[in-house]
Amino acid sequence: MINLKDKNILITGASSGIGQATAILCDSLGANVILVGRNGSTLQETAKKLKGKAKTFIADLTNAEQITELVKNCGNIDGLVNCAGIVKPLPVKYIRQKNISEMFDANFSSAVLLCSELSNTKKINDKASVVFISSISSLHPYIGGSLYSASKAALEAFCRSFAIEHAGKKIRANIIAPALVKTKIFTETELATSEEEMKNYEEQYPLGFGEPEDVANCIVFLLSSASKWITGTTIKMDGGLLLSSKK
Ligand SMILES: NC(=O)c1ccc[n+]([C@@H]2O[C@H](COP(=O)([O-])OP(=O)(O)OC[C@H]3O[C@@H](n4cnc5c(N)ncnc54)[C@H](OP(=O)(O)O)[C@@H]3O)[C@@H](O)[C@H]2O)c1
Repeated sequence: MINLKDKNILITGASSGIGQATAILCDSLGANVILVGRNGSTLQETAKKLKGKAKTFIADLTNAEQITELVKNCGNIDGLVNCAGIVKPLPVKYIRQKNISEMFDANFSSAVLLCSELSNTKKINDKASVVFISSISSLHPYIGGSLYSASKAALEAFCRSFAIEHAGKKIRANIIAPALVKTKIFTETELATSEEEMKNYEEQYPLGFGEPEDVANCIVFLLSSASKWITGTTIKMDGGLLLSSKK
């Protein structure tokens, strides 16, 4: 059922973590992948892990001109995975305008402007699928996560409008909202947290923390025609976290 043969799939944040795992899986399912990230050398590392050839674009998606350049050169797409994002925990009392701009530029405006330009230039093929990576924290807050959670909640709301505006062409858009997944973001959390606290966190996950491949599996399902009747939906992936009585 899950076949991406000859589909052109653009993946942002492909230089590491969930984006990289998604690129590897899409490639193994026959897709032509288009990899986007800021770091050229880690982007090349992803490309080296693929069986097929990949197009790579070094782009900072917080820069509108770089988005325009990417869209001009990426070709038509059958799938888009908006994976690029930052975390940066910050208690409410320390939030300043620059923090809001930094978070929303990276997690919200980047994906919105990319979708808008792709749509405006008719680069999104009919029946294409767009996936947004949000976070479980858009609904379930954590201390220091107000800006991050808000940027992801905004992204989810955008996705649902995008889905309804593009349904006429059978273009679909869905959201995956993961809890903690073992990537660079996870390592940053680990560094800022005591061993005991980390152990407490893990105990709240009946299925343990997630792996990037767990999320990639769900992404390729949403990219494939196996999900052709699903649009505007949020899939929570949390290893059972929200079932836990402690949450
Ligand atoms: N890991 C988790 O626990 C978790 C949980 C829920 C949601 N998420 C979400 O999952 C997505 C992927 O995160 P991850 O865990 O895989 O983290 P990651 O390994 O740190 O990957 C983040 C990716 O985003 C890219 N990126 C960041 N800012 C960018 C910008 N301005 N322009 C272009 N690319 C940019 C990075 O590229 P460069 O390094 O090349 O700049 C990197 O490839 C994020 O949206 C994150 O919010 C993660």
